[in-house]
Amino acid sequence: MLSFGEAPTPKRKTGKERKKKKTVTRLLDFPFRPTLTAVSCVLCLAAQSCKAPRNISQSFEQRVTGNTDSELLTGPSTLPNMKAINKAVLVCKLFGYILRVYVSFFTRNTKPHRLASDAPSAGADADVESKTPKRNIVVVGAGFAGYHAARIIACDLQADSPFEVVVIEPNSHFNFTWVLPRFCVVENHEDKAFIPYGPYLNGARATWVQGKVASVDKESVTLGSGEVIPYEYLVIATGSGADDSLPSRVGETSKIKGVKLMQAMQQRIKASKKLVVVGGGAAGVELATDAKSLYPEKSVTLIHSRSSVLHRFGPEMQAAGMKALTDLGVEVILNDRLIGQDEATGVATLKSGKTVEYDYVVCYFSSSVSAVKG
Ligand SMILES: Cc1cc2nc3c(=O)[nH]c(=O)nc-3n(C[C@H](O)[C@H](O)[C@H](O)COP(=O)(O)OP(=O)(O)OC[C@H]3O[C@@H](n4cnc5c(N)ncnc54)[C@H](O)[C@@H]3O)c2cc1C
Ligand SMILES: NC(=O)c1ccc[n+]([C@@H]2O[C@H](COP(=O)([O-])OP(=O)(O)OC[C@H]3O[C@@H](n4cnc5c(N)ncnc54)[C@H](OP(=O)(O)O)[C@@H]3O)[C@@H](O)[C@H]2O)c1
Repeated sequence: MLSFGEAPTPKRKTGKERKKKKTVTRLLDFPFRPTLTAVSCVLCLAAQSCKAPRNISQSFEQRVTGNTDSELLTGPSTLPNMKAINKAVLVCKLFGYILRVYVSFFTRNTKPHRLASDAPSAGADADVESKTPKRNIVVVGAGFAGYHAARIIACDLQADSPFEVVVIEPNSHFNFTWVLPRFCVVENHEDKAFIPYGPYLNGARATWVQGKVASVDKESVTLGSGEVIPYEYLVIATGSGADDSLPSRVGETSKIKGVKLMQAMQQRIKASKKLVVVGGGAAGVELATDAKSLYPEKSVTLIHSRSSVLHRFGPEMQAAGMKALTDLGVEVILNDRLIGQDEATGVATLKSGKTVEYDYVVCYFSSSVSAVKG
């Protein structure tokens, strides 16, 4: 197996060391955040109950005098009841969530470890254990979901477990996709989009393979390189997929190449006067608004196939996105598709027959796929 660029090369640890580490990991896994949320929630409730006498006197005043100023401001008298009910529902939801987190934390840490059940007996010769081939739990993709799954499983394996986690991921670094659209516009931050996988899995029972899974069958996965990796359990965490290039995905597996691509896009955007952005999903909207905010003098046009931008989000978000775009002065063309670009004349053609002048088009879809869809 290949080792994973800058990713960890896990050292084998003794049983004692592993147990010590597991205790630390379990402590780190303790749901501190929900605990803090619970504490702050209780404090909020306490603070609100201190205000209660004022509310009571207000409602008494309302009852005695009929419509008061405060009622005019807060609406009809049924509204406070609705507010209280909504608040109670919210609090119940919050405590339900916190309870669920606690239950899952305690069951995870108290249930018997199934993965260790058929491990060699305590007195077994260590040599025998090291010679027994490991049974693989293969995790395909180390994005948000896959990395977290691999970490939880690998850190939970007992010292004598016959299992080993094998993570298969093409990228040398964790690609923090959330910042890509912005860092394609704003200079000098691009390296922050690439987070080394390294330190967080050190010592855990995980082997890293840098590669892309090309096919899966009942017992093994095959990489693009032809390497076959057998598995007993398989976690597929390859994400929902997005077209493979900036500003939505890096499109290169190494950090150095990824950084260069982002720097090149920043420079092209900086140099352009008539920027066209294709696709009004979240990535396109982020990029178009960032470009127009940073360079207000440029003409920025966003072309989107749907009837509203941010179509994957709710109507309020769509309206807010559209308002932000128009307030900034981005020209938005909806219900249309870019179907061609003439590099010589700098004219882009849309499905409706409309034309748009450009000197740089940001489009992460292959134009043939885009055009065929239209
Ligand atoms: C540009 C962008 C910005 C975003 N911004 C936000 C935001 O601000 N807030 C928010 O909540 N969400 C945001 N999202 C959505 C969020 O990133 C996704 O919901 C999240 O990444 C899904 O996590 P995942 O682990 O399922 O998939 P991914 O993060 O996509 O991870 C999949 C992993 O699988 C690997 N992989 C794929 N195919 C293979 C294969 N064949 N073999 C091996 N490995 C493979 C990939 O290299 C990748 O590392 C954004 C998404 C994008 C694209
Ligand atoms: N802040 C955030 O939460 C955030 C930020 C970025 C991304 N994301 C998520 O990441 C995923 C990918 O987002 P994304 O913005 O990259 O993609 P997206 O949501 O799929 O939006 C891209 C849009 O571009 C349109 N399009 C494609 N070719 C076109 C053409 N030639 N002319 C006009 N329009 C064209 C597509 O239309 P068709 O569908 O009609 O082909 C699609 O609606 C999504 O799940 C998104 O929610 C989230």
